[in-house]
Amino acid sequence: MPHPIALDALAVLRRKDTAPAAFRVAAHRLSTVVVTEALRDLATEPVAIETPLCPTSVPQLRDGIVLVPVLRAGLGMLDAALILVPGARVGYIGLRRDEDTAQPSRYYARVPEGLENSTVALIDPMLATGGSASAALDLLKAAGARNLRLICLVAAPEGVAALERSHPDVAVYTPVVDERLNDRKFIVPGLGDFGDRLFGTE
Ligand code: PRP
Ligand code: URA
Repeated sequence: MPHPIALDALAVLRRKDTAPAAFRVAAHRLSTVVVTEALRDLATEPVAIETPLCPTSVPQLRDGIVLVPVLRAGLGMLDAALILVPGARVGYIGLRRDEDTAQPSRYYARVPEGLENSTVALIDPMLATGGSASAALDLLKAAGARNLRLICLVAAPEGVAALERSHPDVAVYTPVVDERLNDRKFIVPGLGDFGDRLFGTE
């Protein structure tokens, strides 16, 4: 789902000389566009209110939205998502990719109760091999989630294909699909290590 504002923010993220402060602003700007598009089908319900002029009925978002950022990089998308859906509950999954094998290992998980009846949006900016997203989706399904989607900022074709195999029921929202993975399983052209660039830990 290309959008000119998303592509402009992505250009800032891709530049190797973008410092963490500017990287965070661009990540917030890009996330606002991408999350808005990815939640376009959320259900609303009519609510009775009074404007300064008269009583009326207006559509509002239904309860039951859960956002799940994958630590650390998903934190770069969370503030934007919470501004768009302030009533969302938030779960956290901590995953770290091994630098040599690219296999994810989990170091933290805390998700809200009642995932069975929720719309659950997993948020992780980078979909590379798909190993981390697949592990997070396994965990969320084991915790009861049925209505799941993944929102990311840059995807590799390999990661999209892997998720189509492991979780064909989960829609993936991304503004771009890049060319490929390199031999270290980094996305090319990509933007490098999102978590390191977001938090200045390179
Ligand atoms: C990054 C990213 C994803 C994962 C994607 O996290 O945020 O979670 O890599 O790669 P994959 O599709 O090959 O699994 P990383 O493990 O680098 O941790 P960080 O967020 O703490 O930097
Ligand atoms: N994780 C990142 O942060 N970047 C990549 O290119 C691949 C995985």
